[in-house]
Amino acid sequence: MSSYEVELLISVDRHGPEALHAQVERQFRDAIRSGTLRPGSEVPSTRALAKRLGISRPLVMEAYAQLAAEGYLALRQGAAPRVANTAPRQQVWVFPPESFTTTFFRYDFRPGIPDLSTFPSARWLKAVEAALKTMVPNDFGYGQRFGIWPLRQALADYLGRVRGVSADPRQILVTGGFEQARSFLAQALRRRGVSQLAVEEPGYTDRHVWLDAGLTLIPVAVDEDGIDVAALARSGAQAVLLTPAHQSPTGVVMSGARRLALATWLRDCKAVAIEDDYDGEFRYDRAPIGALQGLAPDHVVYAGTTSKTMAPALRLGWMVVPPDLLLALESELQRLDYGRSRIDQFALAHFIRTGDYDRHLRKMRAVYRDRREALLGVIRSDLPEVEVSGISAGLHASVRFSRRLNEAAIVARAHKRDIGLTFLRRHYLGAAPEESTLLLSYANMPEAALRAAFRTLVTLLND
Ligand SMILES: Cc1ncc(COP(=O)(O)O)c(C=O)c1O
Repeated sequence: MSSYEVELLISVDRHGPEALHAQVERQFRDAIRSGTLRPGSEVPSTRALAKRLGISRPLVMEAYAQLAAEGYLALRQGAAPRVANTAPRQQVWVFPPESFTTTFFRYDFRPGIPDLSTFPSARWLKAVEAALKTMVPNDFGYGQRFGIWPLRQALADYLGRVRGVSADPRQILVTGGFEQARSFLAQALRRRGVSQLAVEEPGYTDRHVWLDAGLTLIPVAVDEDGIDVAALARSGAQAVLLTPAHQSPTGVVMSGARRLALATWLRDCKAVAIEDDYDGEFRYDRAPIGALQGLAPDHVVYAGTTSKTMAPALRLGWMVVPPDLLLALESELQRLDYGRSRIDQFALAHFIRTGDYDRHLRKMRAVYRDRREALLGVIRSDLPEVEVSGISAGLHASVRFSRRLNEAAIVARAHKRDIGLTFLRRHYLGAAPEESTLLLSYANMPEAALRAAFRTLVTLLND
């Protein structure tokens, strides 16, 4: 028997023509046939329902017995009454298959997913507990659209300290991750009259949000120093989307000279850069490089996320927005948005303030560094002819072959072995180079699994 009282939307009319037990039976039949009461779901005990409706228990027992005889309810001695699994249904809906944002593979080399087994659950639980204890009644209301003030303050400090971002908390907007930041920005840029957005070539594949907002995308080549700023200046774009810390997907780190050239272009042309700092916290054998935003805070929208540092499931990120874009964003938010979970925001503020965020990052940096070494080791020994790049930062490597492989066949064979795989080619808007480049994330597999999966992969390449 359940230890709580099951709620049910049912009522009786004492003055109506229909007998009370018949009213109960009819409502159950209707609810079950229409699907509002689902097969297998628990219904109130006869005692509880009689009490709630203010009628005698034998009346409800009679109704339940009748419903059981007709196949609607399953009654078993000592167990809670339930809707029968085989109860008659009026309508069987056909639902479209739901899409997932990611398909899961046992061994996944596709970039984008951090280690999903090391989410700091115990510390996060403490942060949620602390949040709930410190929140006052008004904090449980809707509140500021840009996000709760303590989180914006904590982020301003953290981003200045760790990423060299120059931010006043009033410029910070808490988002549901970069995906959401992008939707807001696409609309706000359009409002500001931007029609041409330059994107890195190759670049992040998810581009429909910009296109849907009416922006034209102009691909601008990325080389070993990052985006080609001279080509960007020639392109006529009024805004650019880029990933300077660890170019997505090649892994190139934008050079100092290119950063300066970009900052000059932004100022001269009063252009806007959107800096997607998706995995900027992870850097290994090179000196930390701050965010581009620090060089041109009036022209750069800096966007960060917890999706790589913590887990995509949190759906929490942030933007640091130049003051003159704030108004356009504020009006977007007024039309579209009531903000992210304030309880989670208080928890994240606590998590950052107590140093737990830094501690978790330090731990994960060491984990990823070891995995990166494991991957590099096995590449060197088992596939010495390839050229590896993009490994000084981030969570994945680019592995370039000297010839074109049968990429579709390799991906299909890998999927059959439960290995997720992706090639660079699909990240181009225009023509990709002839040679094949594999993108290999080392983030979401322990070292032994990583080596084993890589060895299997090598056999697939040679099949
Ligand atoms: C380059 C890049 N930017 C942004 C994102 C998405 O981030 P979020 O989960 O914060 O929406 C990803 C996710 O894989 C990414 O690879």
